[in-house]
Amino acid sequence: MILTTVLACLLTLSPGLAAPLADPQTHDDGEGGHPPDGVHPPEPKKCTDIEKRIPWQALSKEEKKAYINAELCLMGKPSQLDLPGAVTRFDDLVKPHQILAATMHGTGYFLPFHRMLMHTHEHLLRTECGYEGYQPYWAEELDIGKIQDSDVFDPETGFGGGVVDQLVCVPDGPFQNYTLHTGPGFQNTEYCIQRRFSNGATLGARQEYIDHCYQWDKFEQAWQCIEDGGPHNGFHGGVGGVMLNPISSPGDPVFYLHHTWLDKVWWDWQKQKPERLSDISGRKTSRNPLFGAGSNGTAPPFPGFPGGLPDRFPSFPGNFSFPGNFTFPGGFPGGPGGNLSGPPTWKPTDEVVTDPVKLGDILTVFDLIPNTTISNLMDIQGGYFCYEYIDYADAVKR
Ligand SMILES: *[C@@H]1O[C@H](CO)[C@@H](O)[C@H](O)[C@H]1NC(C)=O
Ligand SMILES: *[C@@H]1O[C@H](CO)[C@@H](O)[C@H](O)[C@H]1NC(C)=O
Ligand SMILES: *[C@@H]1O[C@H](CO)[C@@H](O)[C@H](O)[C@H]1NC(C)=O
Ligand SMILES: *[C@@H]1O[C@H](CO)[C@@H](O)[C@H](O)[C@H]1NC(C)=O
Ligand SMILES: *[C@@H]1O[C@H](CO)[C@@H](O)[C@H](O)[C@H]1NC(C)=O
Ligand SMILES: *[C@@H]1O[C@H](CO)[C@@H](O)[C@H](O)[C@H]1NC(C)=O
Repeated sequence: MILTTVLACLLTLSPGLAAPLADPQTHDDGEGGHPPDGVHPPEPKKCTDIEKRIPWQALSKEEKKAYINAELCLMGKPSQLDLPGAVTRFDDLVKPHQILAATMHGTGYFLPFHRMLMHTHEHLLRTECGYEGYQPYWAEELDIGKIQDSDVFDPETGFGGGVVDQLVCVPDGPFQNYTLHTGPGFQNTEYCIQRRFSNGATLGARQEYIDHCYQWDKFEQAWQCIEDGGPHNGFHGGVGGVMLNPISSPGDPVFYLHHTWLDKVWWDWQKQKPERLSDISGRKTSRNPLFGAGSNGTAPPFPGFPGGLPDRFPSFPGNFSFPGNFTFPGGFPGGPGGNLSGPPTWKPTDEVVTDPVKLGDILTVFDLIPNTTISNLMDIQGGYFCYEYIDYADAVKR
């Protein structure tokens, strides 16, 4: 009965999640009209009306304005998740990243979780703030070594600026006076969107680093190289400040441009071979002591926020006392002062993972969109999604 409803529902939907989630606050738990995602993966659907993800730098002035206005709209709306510290709807998007940080970084969940989060962001912009475009990405190759000149940071058409090698609150542009409430780290305090540009760090986005990661045929290696070997760290460190906090980095709205670019990096690897659309693996708990895990990879249980999480959310692993203000021991590649000008050095280890991440594992962004299995997140043109990435050179010809 439920299955029939689910299939009927799925078959009548337009591609992507937009239609079933038009009102995320009233979706039920799978007993009624909406798919109990993660339990019954959608039937493969034809992806015909493909949404185009275009580089920020190739958007028209009007398109940029529409996107920024929708982001400001999320920042101006009240939170709808009763999670500790969440004040605005924009905070609601930082929350899953913050609370689940230890599970979603340094694990096989990293790429699919962030793909889901990018989609969630796009979905909220479209359904709650009248945005009619799709999620743009940062053509990072244009800005390597000269991040301060990036079109992304234009105070009129973009996200406002920053200063090379100096930690500042975003000095101009539309987000100049925005107050974050989630972070830094696991704290929930009021603070500004800080940046500290580092051009040495941006070098991690070089094609040489990406090609280095593409030499591996298996997800296990390609993912870890993408996450730790340069591409992911490059512009986190390049922007610096909020973007350099592994727990609360979505507080800088450029996070969504960077991680959508990273999603493209994963997709460009995935699309080379059909079997990569179902290749997932990796440990389930981060080994990184920054997330509270011991060297054996076991994270202590998340001790919870003061007052606790609402009952419907389980406890998650993590370290609540993670400092908001930290330096990466041994240096985060691409962190302040970091310089990735050398050749890529990332190498696989001989780690044996006994209980790896699987396609049937369920990911959550709390109540923003329904939970789903990883299998629904693997193909950007089938099942759950229907989008493509347009390269900069093609996008400027539009
Ligand atoms: C931020 O506040 C300053 C000082 O009040 C003001 O000059 C500026 O216009 C504000 N910026 C925005 C984007 O609201
Ligand atoms: C990175 O380091 C190299 C070697 O020390 C130096 O030549 C280069 O200018 C640095 N690049 C940046 C962007 O800081
Ligand atoms: C949590 O992080 C703090 C700061 O890094 C550290 O001192 C503490 O030992 C960690 N707690 C646990 C339980 O790992
Ligand atoms: C793993 O490391 C954690 C944190 O250091 C520790 O609490 C735990 O006992 C260790 N577990 C095993 C199985 O050694
Ligand atoms: C979504 O997943 C979370 C975490 O596993 C769980 O606590 C929650 O109950 C799930 N929500 C639904 C509607 O199944
Ligand atoms: C961060 O570190 C600086 C300098 O050490 C200190 O003044 C500031 O209070 C710290 N901020 C937080 C949020 O811990």
